[in-house]
Amino acid sequence: MYLDANATTPLADEVWEAMLPWWREGFHNPSSSHTGGKKARSAIDQARAQVAELIGAQEDEIIFTSGGTEAINALLRSWDALDDTGAFLTTAVEHSAVLRTGTFLSRPMVTCGVSETGALDLRAWCENLSTAAFASVMAVNNETGVIHDWQKAAVLAHQAGKPFFCDAMQAVGKIPVSVADAAVDAMAISAHKFHGPKGIGALYVRRGTKFSPMLHGGGQERGLRSGTEAVPLIVGMGAAAVLAKKRLSDGAIARIAAMRDAFEQAVVAGVSGVQVNGDPAARVANTSHLSFDHCEAAGLLILLDEKGVACSAGSACMAGKQQASHVQKAMGFSDARAKSSLRISFSAQNTAEEAQQAAAILCSAVKKLRSVQSTGVGPVVIYTP
Ligand SMILES: Cc1ncc(COP(=O)(O)O)c(C=O)c1O
Repeated sequence: MYLDANATTPLADEVWEAMLPWWREGFHNPSSSHTGGKKARSAIDQARAQVAELIGAQEDEIIFTSGGTEAINALLRSWDALDDTGAFLTTAVEHSAVLRTGTFLSRPMVTCGVSETGALDLRAWCENLSTAAFASVMAVNNETGVIHDWQKAAVLAHQAGKPFFCDAMQAVGKIPVSVADAAVDAMAISAHKFHGPKGIGALYVRRGTKFSPMLHGGGQERGLRSGTEAVPLIVGMGAAAVLAKKRLSDGAIARIAAMRDAFEQAVVAGVSGVQVNGDPAARVANTSHLSFDHCEAAGLLILLDEKGVACSAGSACMAGKQQASHVQKAMGFSDARAKSSLRISFSAQNTAEEAQQAAAILCSAVKKLRSVQSTGVGPVVIYTP
């Protein structure tokens, strides 16, 4: 039972089918002038149109990258190089792709806090904009699924005359995302978060926005990201974009929400001391972030994995690091609460039956762990027969 869609999603069958020909017979270099090269070029053009359509962009505003992390690095480093005054303003709950990159910029990074439900502190945001050179807010948090008011943050940034970037990795395919309707200058997305392949992402840069490339070479992607294009992955991202757009209007999101809500209700009814984290009204439909009193997530993950349930504590990148997540710390969670939090993230490939089974398995894992964990939260060794 794969319930870790925020870490990565399974490849959709249609995406796999679309990619297949481009690994072997369609192997040509899209920069070549022969027929094979031209076919590869038009496959890229089609994928670019599909990705642009998903986020309401123009085709020439899309730059393919090796994934979300590269798109974020390219954008932040570019803006860092173009202007040498002011801070980089962002939030304390960004993905490490933003926060770690922020520490390598030539300027200070200022992070705005969030409330206990994960909502961005827009007052602090406004206060800090005057000393910022550029600003960035994630659309949806990867751990909690909380939807940020990034459009408002963007408008405020523009009112202060500052360029605005959005990490929309966890939003695309889950909620409508349109750059056409927002005061956003740049946005990063990643195919493997919406049933596309890993190793491919896109950076949207609005026409007229300053951007200097991070990778130099053969001048691909209109000179903005050199390197021979990964045609099969780009085609896969295009196919995944078409499916993601369709899911937003074919009832898939409501079905996922019903599955997630039924799962949460079953868990809350099945064991005591459960807290549902994040803003109940501003959450993406697929994510459930739960804390269990006196029950360490590390132990729960082992018990769940033994029963075939795959989920996470915090983000995939934090896995194995025995420390409370920076997101939960920013939300004011105690160490104990942070270390007893699980992220269960569904996708369109899950079923309501799986969600019910997972709830039952989770409840018995919590009871089992609590029964061996006699004194509060702390490390335990679990012996299974
Ligand atoms: C919010 C967010 N930003 C950035 C990334 C990095 O994207 P990628 O895995 O494509 O490099 C992720 C992926 O975990 C993410 O969830």
